[in-house]
Amino acid sequence: MRHVRGLIPSLAAGALFLSACGGNTSQSSAPAEPASTPPATLTATYSSIQKNIFQPKCMNCHSSGTKSAGIDLTSYASLIQSAQTHGDPVVVPGDPKSSHLYMALDSHEMPPAPDQLSDVEIKTVGTWITQGAKEN
Ligand code: HEC
Repeated sequence: MRHVRGLIPSLAAGALFLSACGGNTSQSSAPAEPASTPPATLTATYSSIQKNIFQPKCMNCHSSGTKSAGIDLTSYASLIQSAQTHGDPVVVPGDPKSSHLYMALDSHEMPPAPDQLSDVEIKTVGTWITQGAKEN
């Protein structure tokens, strides 16, 4: 009686997974206006949010010098960079509820009192993330 064992462990030699983290280059046939109209100065674009929210209300603590929680809101690049090095997802394009940036605002955790954001401001950040958190 012989048991023939045909099990030869095959070594998958050097399977390299090159994770090409390609940027989301979705075409920009962008809808011009968001459905609800926020105040003229604030729109759901990065540049508007940066100017009207991040700069006046966050930069004291989230600049390249201060970087609270590792988050630097100086520029789009630094925000995305922070998002990649922070333990938790700071910005998940298309998904505000998974984005700490949005959740911290929505829960009124950020900015610390007394500089709380208005509902419209919070919603605008949410809309920007929903629309892909683009550098627009
Ligand atoms: C007075 C200083 C201060 C201001 C102003 C401030 N933050 Fe923060 N922020 C902090 C500190 C300190 C932490 C880390 C400790 C903590 O989580 O409470 C933090 C943490 C965060 C986090 C990470 C939270 C998490 O759950 O991981 C986010 C996102 C954030 N801030 C966004 C903002 C935004 C956006 C603004 C402006 C609207 C803002 N912060 C304004 C001090 C500040």
